[in-house]
Parts: sequence; structure tokens; C-alpha cells
Amino acid sequence: MSQHYDLAAAFEKAFGLAPAITIQAPGRVNLIGEHTDYNDGFVFPVAINFGTWIAATPREDRIIDVLALDYGGERVQFSLDQIEHVDTATWSNYVRGVCKVLLGILPDLKGANLAVTGNVPQGAGLSSSASFEVALVKMFKSLYNLDVTGVDAALLGQKAENTFVGCSCGIMDQLISAMGKQGEAMLLDCRSLEFQYTPLPDSHAIVIINSNVKRGLVDSEYNVRRKQCEEGANIMGVTALRDAELSLLEQHKPAMSKTVYRRARHIITENQRTLDMYYALRAGRIDKVSELMAQSHISMREDFEITVPPIDYIVEIIDDVLGKEGGVRMTGGGFGGCVVALVPKNRVSQVMETVDKLYHTHTGFKQSMYICSAAQGAFA
Ligand code: GLA
Repeated sequence: MSQHYDLAAAFEKAFGLAPAITIQAPGRVNLIGEHTDYNDGFVFPVAINFGTWIAATPREDRIIDVLALDYGGERVQFSLDQIEHVDTATWSNYVRGVCKVLLGILPDLKGANLAVTGNVPQGAGLSSSASFEVALVKMFKSLYNLDVTGVDAALLGQKAENTFVGCSCGIMDQLISAMGKQGEAMLLDCRSLEFQYTPLPDSHAIVIINSNVKRGLVDSEYNVRRKQCEEGANIMGVTALRDAELSLLEQHKPAMSKTVYRRARHIITENQRTLDMYYALRAGRIDKVSELMAQSHISMREDFEITVPPIDYIVEIIDDVLGKEGGVRMTGGGFGGCVVALVPKNRVSQVMETVDKLYHTHTGFKQSMYICSAAQGAFA
């Protein structure tokens, strides 16, 4: 993992002293379990070797002074006593939001000088924002010796995003950024927040293909999906779709719209696939992994309707190369973004060449590809 900038040197130049600490939090890729987190269900993500780094020193006053290296060295200052959402300030709202939620539990929090850089592709569905939030909490914890666990950090990051930044995301991204484990994937129960790890097979690489389709309408469509899921759960009389089975859904089918029925069917089947994938991977059953990832993609395309044609095309051509020897599906919130593939190490170049040869000609978009490994979370 490497940074784009010499963070320590940039910090020293801006603040006139060396950073007291430098911390990092990773982005993530989800292997399976999409849109299940806010339905109290299961997800199966991996923290990746791309992340956000923060160098910092403590301050005696209540001022936060931030330098964003990836935004042309933009510098923002604000007081912890006056935190307002600034509509035009994209990245700094994450800093404001995390400070605001931290102040909710630690009203005496002191300020900090910080310099930030990251290499998680932004707006690609690889959780650059969650990695930033978790890195911010970790930075405050390290500077001021705060009693904050990884799960607390994830909940604080999610709260900042939900209540301050304005996206009603679930808990998956922040939790894996905080608690991911090197070389392993995490099965997370988003209701109890209990999780267990399982090693990724040595035989396979995680390949991420960024479609570079600009993600339009993501937030609004995301919130619509949440509402539809809640409606489905209400009609069935369950707390969350996690509690429903297909038989219950069939029983209530006449009472719901076709759309709500299909949304609920995705969540119910996806939860089961996520559990099945965990056991399949543990058992080394790549043929089963392959089948589950393929079914997940179809369900996202047909029932949850969150894929776009260029993404479907990437999945199709990679699936043709892999057959039963690996798995491929869209990953993340949808409407563009990335495809994740588990690829036998000796087939990685073939997969990359295939996408290189066909994707641009067929869709007009140009992909970016990353070979990833499972990284350690910021609090793990
Ligand atoms: C986004 C959200 C997550 C999750 C995924 C879809 O990444 O931030 O909480 O809902 O979409 O699985």
C-alpha cells in the first residue's frame, strides 16, 4: 500500500512541525451480500490495500485545521464550538461530521492539525468515505488516548454519514474498514454486529474492475431502495427483511407491489447466499462460490435493479473466462462503480486482457483494474 504524497513532509511544510502520529484506514470490497446491511442481514466484505492516511498533531485549543493533499492542497479550519454543514464543501463535511458525533460523547474534545491523503478511488463504490471517517476516529483515538473500540468507530462514522453528510448508508463499510483482517474476509451479522473471519484461498486473487461509469442518482436511488425494503418488511409484519423467508414473502405477495416483492426477494435470497458463500469458501468449494456470485449478480440486476449495462457486460465477459473456476459480480451500492472477481492467480492476466480488449469497444467506457489483497482494518 502506498500513498500518493509524502504526507510527513507535506504536514511539516504546512504546520511547521513533524506529525506526532500517522494513521491509516482501508477501503473495502464486498464479496457478497449487497444492500443487506440496512435490512439487519449478512455481508461478506474484505478490507483492501487502498486507504486513507492522516498525519496529525494535537492542539491546546478547539480548532481543527485540515490540509487535503488530494484536493490541490486545500486547507480548511473550523472550531469545534461551531460545526455547520457546508453544502459546497465536499470532503471537509466528513471531518465536520465525525467531529460533531465525537463531541456527542466527548464534549471536551480538543482540536488537531491534520494532513490527509488517500488512494481509494473516489465514487467507485470502494468506500473512500468510510475509510476517511474511520481514519478520523482512529486519529482522535491515537492523539488523545480515547477509549473507542473498532465497533464504536464504525458506528460513529456511520452516524456522521447518516446525520451530517446526508447518506443513509448501513454499517458494512465502516465496520470492515475498522475491523478487517489481513488475508481474510469477514462475515458480519449487521443486526448483532458480531463477525467472524475466514481466510481467502491462496489460489485466487481479488481483482476489482472499475467500470468508470459515473454513478448518477446513487443517493436518491439508495434511499428509495431502503424505503421499498421497509415497506416489504411492514407488509410481512417483520422487524426487518432479515426475519423473512421466501414462504412468508409468497404468502404476502398479493398485498405488495411487484417492485416491493422483487426488492424483498433480492434481500431474502441474498442473505442466504451470503451465509452459503461463507461456508463454501471455508470448504474450498470454488465451484459453489462461482454459482453464488453469479446468482447474486442476476438478483441485483433483475430484482433489485441496481446494475447498469456496462457493469453487466464486464460480469458477462469475465464469467465467460472463469467458468466455475472463479466468481464475478457487481460490488457496492450500484448504479455504476465496480465489479469484483475472485480469479485463479494463473488466470489474472487473461481476465485483464479480456476486459482490455472488449470493454471499451463495446461500451465506450474505459476501465481501471486493481489487484487487491485483504488488508488489516484500522482498529483490528
Ligand atoms: C453502500 C453503503 C453500504 C451498503 C452498500 C450496499 O456501500 O454504504 O452500507 O448498503 O452500499 O451493499
